[in-house]
Amino acid sequence: MSGNSLESVPLYHQSGTRREICHWIAHIKLSRIIIVILLILFIVSLFNHYYLSKVESENQTLDIHRTRSKLEAFDDFTSMKASELKSRIEEMLRIKGSVSNELRDLEAKRQRLQNEVSGFSQRIDDLKQDLLHQQTDLDRLKISVVQAQAAQREAVERNTPELALPKRILINSLPITMLPTMDSRNCRMYNCFDHSRCALTSGFPIYLYDPDLFSIVNSGWDIDGFLRTTIKQTLGYNAHLTNNPAEACIYLVLVGEILSTQAITKKLNYEKMLNVKKLLSLPYWGGDGRNHVLLNLARRDLSVNSENLFNDIDTGRAIIVQSTFKRNQYRDGFDLIVPPILGPPGGDIWQECAQMVPARRRYLLSFQGEMKFNKLSMTTRQIDDAEIDLERLADDENNLDNFIIQHLRDMTSGVTFDKFFIQFECIPATEEQNSGGMALDWSLCGTDSSRKEILRDSTFALILAPINSSYITTSSMQARLYEALRSGAIPVVLGGDQVLLSYSEVIAWRRAAIFLPKARVTELHFLLRAVPDSDLLFMRRQGRLIWERFMGTAQGAVDTIVASIRDRLGIPPLPATQHSSPSVFNESFVPLKSDAIISEAEAEESLGPLEPPYPSPAFKRNYTMMLIHGHEIWNDWVNPFSLYPQLPFDTVLSSDAKFIGSDVGFRPIGKGAGGAGKEFSESLGGNHPREQFTIVILTYEREQVLINSLARLYGLPYLNKVLVIWNSPKLPMEDLRWPDIGVPIVIIKAPRNSLNNRFLPFDAIETEAVLSVDDDAHLRHDEIMFGFRVWREHRDQVVGFPGRFHAWDQNFHNAWNYNSNYSCELSMVLTGAAFIHKHYMYLYSNWLPQAIRDKVDEYMNCEDIAMNFLISHLTRKPPVKVTSRWTFRCPGCPVSLSEDDTHFQERHKCINFFVQVFGYMPLLNTQYRADSILFKTRISHDKQKCFKFI
Ligand SMILES: *[C@@H]1O[C@H](CO)[C@@H](O)[C@H](O)[C@H]1NC(C)=O
Ligand SMILES: *[C@@H]1O[C@H](CO)[C@@H](O)[C@H](O)[C@H]1NC(C)=O
Ligand SMILES: *[C@@H]1O[C@H](CO)[C@@H](O)[C@H](O)[C@H]1NC(C)=O
Ligand SMILES: *[C@@H]1O[C@H](CO)[C@@H](O)[C@H](O)[C@H]1NC(C)=O
Repeated sequence: MSGNSLESVPLYHQSGTRREICHWIAHIKLSRIIIVILLILFIVSLFNHYYLSKVESENQTLDIHRTRSKLEAFDDFTSMKASELKSRIEEMLRIKGSVSNELRDLEAKRQRLQNEVSGFSQRIDDLKQDLLHQQTDLDRLKISVVQAQAAQREAVERNTPELALPKRILINSLPITMLPTMDSRNCRMYNCFDHSRCALTSGFPIYLYDPDLFSIVNSGWDIDGFLRTTIKQTLGYNAHLTNNPAEACIYLVLVGEILSTQAITKKLNYEKMLNVKKLLSLPYWGGDGRNHVLLNLARRDLSVNSENLFNDIDTGRAIIVQSTFKRNQYRDGFDLIVPPILGPPGGDIWQECAQMVPARRRYLLSFQGEMKFNKLSMTTRQIDDAEIDLERLADDENNLDNFIIQHLRDMTSGVTFDKFFIQFECIPATEEQNSGGMALDWSLCGTDSSRKEILRDSTFALILAPINSSYITTSSMQARLYEALRSGAIPVVLGGDQVLLSYSEVIAWRRAAIFLPKARVTELHFLLRAVPDSDLLFMRRQGRLIWERFMGTAQGAVDTIVASIRDRLGIPPLPATQHSSPSVFNESFVPLKSDAIISEAEAEESLGPLEPPYPSPAFKRNYTMMLIHGHEIWNDWVNPFSLYPQLPFDTVLSSDAKFIGSDVGFRPIGKGAGGAGKEFSESLGGNHPREQFTIVILTYEREQVLINSLARLYGLPYLNKVLVIWNSPKLPMEDLRWPDIGVPIVIIKAPRNSLNNRFLPFDAIETEAVLSVDDDAHLRHDEIMFGFRVWREHRDQVVGFPGRFHAWDQNFHNAWNYNSNYSCELSMVLTGAAFIHKHYMYLYSNWLPQAIRDKVDEYMNCEDIAMNFLISHLTRKPPVKVTSRWTFRCPGCPVSLSEDDTHFQERHKCINFFVQVFGYMPLLNTQYRADSILFKTRISHDKQKCFKFI
């Protein structure tokens, strides 16, 4: 009952009382009448009210006609006394009060009921939501079951069980003595090498005769002591070395450089220096020197001394390794041409190298050298005749060389903008210049550092083939090549068709040097000018790669010799060493567990099946990797010294193969029929078989932040394992509750507090894909899933979320700056939230120059920049940024502005320092960002997007 209906009653009643009012009008005055009328009107309304409430309490269904007739019974109310009227009014008021109370009660009741209703509808909503979650969970379980069934079917159907590794066949006997049966000059691997000592699974054991005990040089002569120690030491670091001669595949004999002063002053020939009898009596020589490798390594660039120790000496079936070979002496595919060992034993050598830019340097071409005369390759009688011979020689065979010299001289003085530095006489003159003898080769002029200075200023370095064309390589030529590559001068080998460079079986020299027949000398200038800048830089970079990897250090040189013989035999290298993963907890300690939190957003979208842990298959390609990727392994990424369990560059099956014959492990979307979001989330799809990823979190004394991050990982599909690298020396609190997220969490005690630990190749990482995240990074499950799926298509790149770029600061100091502002190009994706291949963790920890890791430790910063440098350097590709949603809260970033500034200043410095180390800026820009395919596409309602939000 509302107030409105009460007020309307007196108005309605007014017309019914009009007759009585007319009787009155004749007897009383108007003013009185008006007062009385008003009074009556008021009283009538009160009566009405009373009556109505009364009848209503008696009979709720009272109709309007009956109301009127009862009211008429009160017609004589005017006769009431004033006191009576007053009490009536009071009663009315009381009634009014009780009615409003009643109304209030009813209102409260109404409210209560309304609350109950909304409570119920809330409940309904909750239940609906719950149903949805249950449905999602059920869906997820269903697809998990389907995936598990697929895995089981595969396991059952697999009719080629994995073959156990053949037993490591190690020969366990010393070589027996056999008499030489053939002319050693015809030796090749098939007829002179004993393959039975070198089984495929043997691991290629090598044995070194201790150079201190087994010298094959006559008494009175000595191998360069520094060389002897260095080789012994560096070979000691080579994992193939064995102490057991009975199991060895090859036997190394260090011959080495014989000290020059002795050789020159005593004027003796090689037969007097080398003791063949000592060679034959080496304990495992076996009569013919099978599987022996004679290392005649030179440390100096003087070819006179180290050149051809074994010339005209029968070394039986032994392989000769040296820098100088005569054409008819070198047994192709058997002997090995190596560069002289000119670098330090080991360590960082990047300081030796020049920066790669500018592409064009001051001199277009440089050469410093002069004809060298060789006395030691001649008999005493020849030395006597040398003076006479020299004139004659210059006339015939050296005619072309004279022409070349003349032409180059003319070129230098000709009219051209290009500058040359060509010098055919050394200043000051070298000792040999006037001492007579036969021209064998060009000697180097000046000192190492003076030549370095010129070469660093030269775009190209001229390398002339040995003057005596019966040599295919000399140590002097090899030394010249070494110096050119070190300084980034691109070698131009004139007479390139008559020489062989080192390790030519495996090194693609044509990517790093220009080879020209001598007859092309007149075309030389034209050709060099025609090389574009980008190719100049490519060749220079390639040259530096060769130099750093194979020549720059004694360690590299020795390892390369071993690797190239091993490669020839088709034996895989030894596996790269992983880093052990010691737990922070001792064996007796059982960490406390807690339940994981399921966040709303993660629960409502099914992103993929939850599968049991499934490590990526490892070492599947032991015997094909070096066949298929041999070229890249030697000349591009990676290196030939270690075997890696997987590569980011593994071969990919064609997409029909996964339906016909090679379906194992594949999870095609909609069983190959494809599909939108629903089908997409049910299988992993892609060009690669199913796989999972590992999350690596580096943490330092932020336990609760870490625990929260871990808890959020509950129910993440394709997650294999979580590694927490505990960088703090303080152990985790004992009462810390670790969330149970359905996959193992391995907490690793870091060797020391270093950001480089983030990239240690821990053996606990069993997948190729590694998601590196900061302990406080908050990535949503759909973002992680999408990132993982994108990474699977860009396995060799960094794939992740926070993009940054390097910017050239022209105004301030002409150097690089690190920049995190909004930009339409990026060149780095920070590893605070990025996927990388585990392979790069090996390279970061073992291959990257130590100086970079030291810088990271110095600043406690920049490890993410270093990883981007490394990967861009190896792949020449920029990183891939995924999705736009994720905002990167700079983790661990200092809060105060000044500290923030320090952080950035350090990062500027890091970038510029890394450029120094790499010799160039390897980062590349990209404008590309990966969003999922149906993102922002209008699709019909019965179809799902690939992801709801991204
Ligand atoms: C080249 O060297 C070989 C051996 O050292 C020698 O017999 C020959 O005469 C030399 N030829 C020239 C043109 O110097
Ligand atoms: C293992 O670690 C726990 C906690 O860190 C410690 O209390 C306990 O004494 C340790 N036990 C042994 C055997 O070291
Ligand atoms: C490949 O080599 C690795 C390392 O030596 C070894 O563990 C693995 O079993 C090998 N795999 C095959 C298939 O030969
Ligand atoms: C980023 O942008 C701001 C505002 O435009 C500018 O002041 C700042 O210098 C930029 N930072 C860098 C590192 O370029």
